[in-house]
Amino acid sequence: MRKEIEWIGNSMMPISKQKTTVEFLGKQEIDKAKKFHMSCPGYEKTPLQSLNNLAQLLGVAGVYVKDESYRFGLNAFKVLGGSYAMARYMAQRLQKDISELPFEKIISQEIKDQLGDVTFATATDGNHGRGVAWTARKLGQKSIVYMPKGSTIRRLENIRAEGAEAKITDYNYDDTVRMIAEESDRKGWVIVQDTAWKGYEDIPTWIMQGYGTMAAEALEQLNDMGIHKPTHIFIQAGVGSLAGAVQGYFASVFEEERPKTVIVESDQADCFYKSAKAGDGKPRIVGGDMTTIMAGLACGEPNSIGWNVLRDYSEMFMSCPDWVSARGMRILGNPLGSDCKVVSGESGSVTIGALSMLMQDEHLKAAREALGLNKDSRILLFSTEGDTDPDKYRSIVWDGECPSY
Ligand SMILES: Cc1ncc(COP(=O)(O)O)c(C=O)c1O
Repeated sequence: MRKEIEWIGNSMMPISKQKTTVEFLGKQEIDKAKKFHMSCPGYEKTPLQSLNNLAQLLGVAGVYVKDESYRFGLNAFKVLGGSYAMARYMAQRLQKDISELPFEKIISQEIKDQLGDVTFATATDGNHGRGVAWTARKLGQKSIVYMPKGSTIRRLENIRAEGAEAKITDYNYDDTVRMIAEESDRKGWVIVQDTAWKGYEDIPTWIMQGYGTMAAEALEQLNDMGIHKPTHIFIQAGVGSLAGAVQGYFASVFEEERPKTVIVESDQADCFYKSAKAGDGKPRIVGGDMTTIMAGLACGEPNSIGWNVLRDYSEMFMSCPDWVSARGMRILGNPLGSDCKVVSGESGSVTIGALSMLMQDEHLKAAREALGLNKDSRILLFSTEGDTDPDKYRSIVWDGECPSY
């Protein structure tokens, strides 16, 4: 028998105004990040696809999917975070404001001479490391990338192709992070990690602000379509930096009128869902191998900054088995009528899989009603990666790996 989706409403949300501040993800900060990204070579807004036929089938007013497979030719959104954090790090060392350091300036010989050689290091499932390696190469600096056990050779090769020294370790994601953090301390590398812990908060904050570019673009694109704001957002979480950034941006822009947000995780790494279930406002950790096709979401320890935002502003947490993500890949890869095709990888598609089940599966009626999903709903989702592992993509979309039934 297949494992079902589990969900829980957020009973931890403070009723009073004592919510974590989301000012650091407000329009002013995100505009800075967006300006920096716009100065990078190859910058273009990624498409926001309005899937009208799918919306009609699911019985909602609109389904809008941001297609991050187009991001800087890197097939995933992640480079937004690493690149901005590395630029902010350099600005800090040079005691300049980031607005004084557009991309062209940051890669100049003058800056290189001032900073000397820097080695950037990170632990990653793949997408983040590729972004860090891409940025380091463009900066003329070195990068070192460690990947958790189970990472695919294809993703390792993609990172090496960007010039990084990269290897797959014998540990899960969270332990690999600890490993590179210790080694960076000893060797003087600059660790660019996409998660925060006590005493390590600047770089993860900048990474989250970098992700904000994607949220800001999506809102602009909705506005261009004549839509003031989405009613709902579905966003996937690994460590929760991405989800915290998106949630924080919309909460900051719309305050109490913010869209209802659903946090979607792999059931093998559902630390936010488990934290919500515990209900005491304290984060929970998931350990072990976290074997899931959703490699980007296989993280069991919440980012402490993202956690605060998600605890205080999100409506619901969902824990999804692999087949939900596989269903999402097939839905987006086989568009209805004139809807556009979105090539969505395993970590990109779980939200559309979850939305489709919420609207079509009577077992999830209570969740659908709790969220107020109906014919007036306009839902924003982020397909955060394309076919970053093309063999796996075909095995799922062509050959039916991870069937829904
Ligand atoms: C494609 C993709 N989507 C989503 C995520 C989740 O982001 P976060 O770990 O910030 O929650 C990742 C993380 O690596 C990813 O690679």
